[in-house]
Amino acid sequence: MSNNRPETGSFFARDREWHPPAFTPWYKTSVLRSPQKAMISLDNTISEITGPVFGHNMLGELDDDLIHNFARPGESAIGQRIIVYGRVLDERGRGVPGALLEFWQANAGGRYRHKKEGYMAPLDPNFGGCGRTITDEDGAYAFRTIKPGPYPWPNGPNDWRPAHIHFSIFGHGFAQRLITQMYFEGDPLIWKCPIVRTIPDKAAIEQLVAALDMEATIPMDARAYKFDIVLRGRRSTMFENRLEGN
Ligand SMILES: [Fe+2]
Repeated sequence: MSNNRPETGSFFARDREWHPPAFTPWYKTSVLRSPQKAMISLDNTISEITGPVFGHNMLGELDDDLIHNFARPGESAIGQRIIVYGRVLDERGRGVPGALLEFWQANAGGRYRHKKEGYMAPLDPNFGGCGRTITDEDGAYAFRTIKPGPYPWPNGPNDWRPAHIHFSIFGHGFAQRLITQMYFEGDPLIWKCPIVRTIPDKAAIEQLVAALDMEATIPMDARAYKFDIVLRGRRSTMFENRLEGN
């Protein structure tokens, strides 16, 4: 693909028209979090273009199965069973092998297992809400989970997050670290969400919406959603502008 932006070291510079601006007052916490001074451009150095190497032997047997990884023996998490799968690609569309994906999400009722959680939906004793996997030689990944519920959050008087899964992806260097969120096709809350609406480009938002894929669905077991992720470059998946999930 063409890319007119400069490469800095081994990576293309981030496209700041594709990613959301740091200051978006309708997303309340961005006001204090956004920089107060102009940015300074720095080239990548060796510390950004290198990174740890992840191997499949660091993973536990159930790390890619959120339906079971915190469940009591013989039991499973409550909710709509789904498979999330896709590929991690670099800025030239090549698969990124050995990328570490970590994901976390609310339970089927929209509740996190978190001390400061303020939503009254119940916890599920069989659901922890986090897992991880590593991409194969083609950059492909897959995991099983339950579909998270939407939840309210203290921003405006009545803001609800669309159903979403948080992702951290670690590619081949620290400059390829990506934190983002995946949404679900057809959810009307996506277009009402103040966090989603910090993204200026509709196509960039649509890149965060996983498509229902009936071809990959397992009958009588789990529906499938496809979510491809691009690390750095003109078409890279939107970087989230907050460091901790909500
Ligand atoms: Fe969240």
